[in-house]
Amino acid sequence: MPNPYLPISVKVERVTVENEAKDLKTFDLSFVEPGERKAFEFIPGQFGFLSIAGVGEAPFGIASAPSEPLVRYTVKRVGAFTTALHELEEGTVIGMRGPWGNSYPLDLMQGRDVVIVSGGFSFTTLRSTIVHLLDPKRRSQFGKLTCVYGARSAGELLYKEEIKAWESNPDISLHLCVDKLGGDPWPGTEGLVPNVLKQVAPSAKNAVALVCGPPIMIRFTHPVLEELGFKPDNVFLSLENRMKCGIGKCGHCNIGPVYVCKDGPVFSYSQLKNLPAEY
Ligand SMILES: Cc1cc2nc3c(=O)[nH]c(=O)nc-3n(C[C@H](O)[C@H](O)[C@H](O)COP(=O)(O)OP(=O)(O)OC[C@H]3O[C@@H](n4cnc5c(N)ncnc54)[C@H](O)[C@@H]3O)c2cc1C
Ligand code: FES
Repeated sequence: MPNPYLPISVKVERVTVENEAKDLKTFDLSFVEPGERKAFEFIPGQFGFLSIAGVGEAPFGIASAPSEPLVRYTVKRVGAFTTALHELEEGTVIGMRGPWGNSYPLDLMQGRDVVIVSGGFSFTTLRSTIVHLLDPKRRSQFGKLTCVYGARSAGELLYKEEIKAWESNPDISLHLCVDKLGGDPWPGTEGLVPNVLKQVAPSAKNAVALVCGPPIMIRFTHPVLEELGFKPDNVFLSLENRMKCGIGKCGHCNIGPVYVCKDGPVFSYSQLKNLPAEY
């Protein structure tokens, strides 16, 4: 069995600055040894560790879909490791290990409507999920796809060109919102994610909701989903606890008896209701 702590080598093929503040960058990575792609087969919702020799490593949700040739991560610059990552030039080789964690419940989602609710830069693994579900090869396996995605301003929304294209895609009902409308007419809806979700009011009948965002958004989104009739078993959240090993060995990420790295990061709301409120 391969050593789970040993990173494989990946090359930074493309770096994209995502926002006006320039503290969000997307890294598209290729495998230095093409054969290693097979060892990194993942499902939307999983995460990987990126590492830079002499600096360290950190976990990030995988933002690409399994069918895409490059593995994508979108990273906010917050501290030492993410600053080093932001300074990388295209062509640099770094380390990556994983994929770790569980995924969004694709089996449960089969034949059901899917409602995606997200705020800010946590949209990454949900972007992976949307691209996966929109793939013409599997689109018919899932019901209606609705997404409410918000950010502080239009400039803070991720993957702008792609989500502009989704706006005219009949396979997804996309509702973009910003806290405050600026001069930019796009997107046209001013409002917070939970309020916009309430207005859109997707049906909870035979539907699953996937939620990822800052804690404040999650806190105000739950009551709206409950009001719409979503049962705790059908609402899934992705958590981002501090992690060290990523494989259930070090005990850095636990919430009560569960390890977020191994048992999560995706949990149903009914699972979380039975855990201490540390997340
Ligand atoms: C499963 C998982 C998926 C993640 N996905 C992404 C992603 O897609 N994009 C992304 O930008 N980040 C993501 N993160 C968070 C990312 O791992 C941290 O931002 C990173 O480790 C910070 O490293 P640093 O050395 O730059 O900052 P540090 O010096 O370690 O910390 C700087 C500041 O960031 C805070 N911080 C560090 N880690 C976290 C965390 N996990 N949650 C909240 N605050 C934190 C610290 O408290 C401190 O205030 C994810 C974390 C997990 C566990
Ligand atoms: S990060 Fe080590 S147990 Fe989860």
